Amino acid sequence: MTMEQRCPDVFPLFVKSNRNMVKAWLFNLVVLSIMVAGCGAPKEKKVDDFLILQKDDHSFANFNEVRVNHISLDLTVDFDQKVLSGSARLSLNNRAKTNTLVLDVGNLSIKEIILDNGDSTTFSLGKESEIFGQSLSIDIEPNTEWVEIMYATSPDAKALQWLSPEQTLGKEHPFLFSQSQAILARTWVPCQDGPGVKFTYDAKITTDSSLIALMSAENGTTKNADGIYTFKMDQPISSYLLALTVGDLEYQKMGRNSGVFAEPAMLEKSVYELESMQRMIDSAETLYGPYAWEQYDVVILPPSFPFGGMENPRLTFATPTIIAGDRSLVSLIAHELAHSWSGNLVTNETWNDFWLNEGFTVYFEQRIMEKIYGSSYERMLTKLGMGDLVNTIAELEKEGRVADTHLYLELDGRDPDDGLTDVAYEKGRFFLQTVESIVGRERFDSFLRTYFTVNKFKPMNTERFINYLNDNLLSDEESVDLGADEWIYGPGLPDNCPEPFSEELDKVESSLAKYNNGLIRADELVTDGYTTHHWLYFLRGLRNLDMNRMTELDAAFSFTETGNSEIACDWFKHAVEQSYKPAYPAMASFLKSVGRRKFLTPIYSRLAATPENKLWAKEVYELARPSYHSVSYLTIDGILK
Ligand code: BES
Ligand code: ZN
Repeated sequence: MTMEQRCPDVFPLFVKSNRNMVKAWLFNLVVLSIMVAGCGAPKEKKVDDFLILQKDDHSFANFNEVRVNHISLDLTVDFDQKVLSGSARLSLNNRAKTNTLVLDVGNLSIKEIILDNGDSTTFSLGKESEIFGQSLSIDIEPNTEWVEIMYATSPDAKALQWLSPEQTLGKEHPFLFSQSQAILARTWVPCQDGPGVKFTYDAKITTDSSLIALMSAENGTTKNADGIYTFKMDQPISSYLLALTVGDLEYQKMGRNSGVFAEPAMLEKSVYELESMQRMIDSAETLYGPYAWEQYDVVILPPSFPFGGMENPRLTFATPTIIAGDRSLVSLIAHELAHSWSGNLVTNETWNDFWLNEGFTVYFEQRIMEKIYGSSYERMLTKLGMGDLVNTIAELEKEGRVADTHLYLELDGRDPDDGLTDVAYEKGRFFLQTVESIVGRERFDSFLRTYFTVNKFKPMNTERFINYLNDNLLSDEESVDLGADEWIYGPGLPDNCPEPFSEELDKVESSLAKYNNGLIRADELVTDGYTTHHWLYFLRGLRNLDMNRMTELDAAFSFTETGNSEIACDWFKHAVEQSYKPAYPAMASFLKSVGRRKFLTPIYSRLAATPENKLWAKEVYELARPSYHSVSYLTIDGILK
């Protein structure tokens, strides 16, 4: 057998890569040396069922020597001290028979660590980094099967937000939620905090009996008289999917295997808004195969939740800003649900491969939305996505961050948050749309179904995905047409990207052309039948604004008073750029009540551009900051410093 026969996926790289010759050479060199060393298959390096992972720039853990495969948590929630305290027992697969287990921790106070033989063991903490936290090196025996770590979190653990009763809707009970992605799990659970490591878990959480605790696991749906809640997650997950929330939450079943948790005052509205949830699950299953996690619930969190949604397994965490009253922002649920396949089942191996999570998910979200709401609606969403992408690429280029417009990211030494741009999401989506346009929908769907089945519960990296794509879908000619290397290791948007088209948004486009050129007044615009997405396209396409035009637009369409968070955010961006003061009180209350970073960043950044606005922003921020999660306030601190 020649080497080429044994490793058919390696050599095409020599031929196919043009731009990325050096990378390909290096990769092949590594693969060749592995093969020379007598270790055959380069696709997925495995040693006795132990998948060898790529180096993770954002984790200290020695996961290629010893791997954590199960975590048992026993934690008590103390709202007065704002700490979780108790223990984490980590089960180990010590392949290399090493004497040291290295974990990631962030601001944890470690009380004691014991081994499976009952002995207390020694440990040391590494140098602290603001972004990465610290390493925790634990002395173990080559045959140690588990270690138990007694610890407490810090009151300012970055993952956790502790809300006072006044910061909730009901005003009576405190509230806690976690946000672990990307590398914040280490601030509440000592673990191997890289997405390539997968483990099962169980937990016992003790809290006040007036509250319910929920996790990214099998949950109960009602409060317990003793405040003790137990959880089980039997499918392996990555640490960034560890999640906990505790509060006064009630549940309503939505369908066969779906339901919603929310604060009592929010439950009815949430149930109305998320009416399509069960249909989304059913559609997703017909597209890409069975839902692997049994139950799919959503918890609507208080408005300080820093993201739109977070795909915690079995229990998506969501911002209340999607509860618009007209079901117009529910594509976010399709997105988080889609992660149950792309991300939670097949997981980006490192944060450099983030597009494998988000790009696939946006593509999948688009397919779910098309199935449920039709292609006209889907095309509006896709065209808006292209608009975001074009702006993001232009901005990154302006900031000299061209490498961040590649799909494969180089985040070494940086916060993985730097990779959280529309490039992973939208360029990723359009890359997959390009594949679809080359091979046709039928072949692509069947490829994706197999891809999710074959790779479920495993990490995936960019190189392995491209090899898999070439081996299982593309002919040589199609592979040349696609030019994957240019998409993945090259800047901006390749020429073969399909141009999104939306007949609905074209109507808005022609209104905009007239209005932007001063041919008609705001009250002459024909906006009958406009949905949220028509309005967003309209707001994003406005040019040549001034004070008079802001005033007449507001008089015609009451943008300042809108209850729709997406519309509000786009309007406030214009308000800041034009210093349109009538919108400022509403903008101040928006900034004080909503902690979703995607809205805060563009508004505060624009405010920071002039001294007068910056002063106003700082006053608002002083009041608002205590209600933001660390993910948001650390970003805004940087903008207003
Ligand atoms: N997993 C992400 C959120 C995330 C990414 C948190 C990286 C931390 C680091 C989630 O699925 C997401 O993409 N949320 C989006 C909504 C979506 C509809 C684009 C958000 O929060 O805006
Ligand atoms: Zn996502």
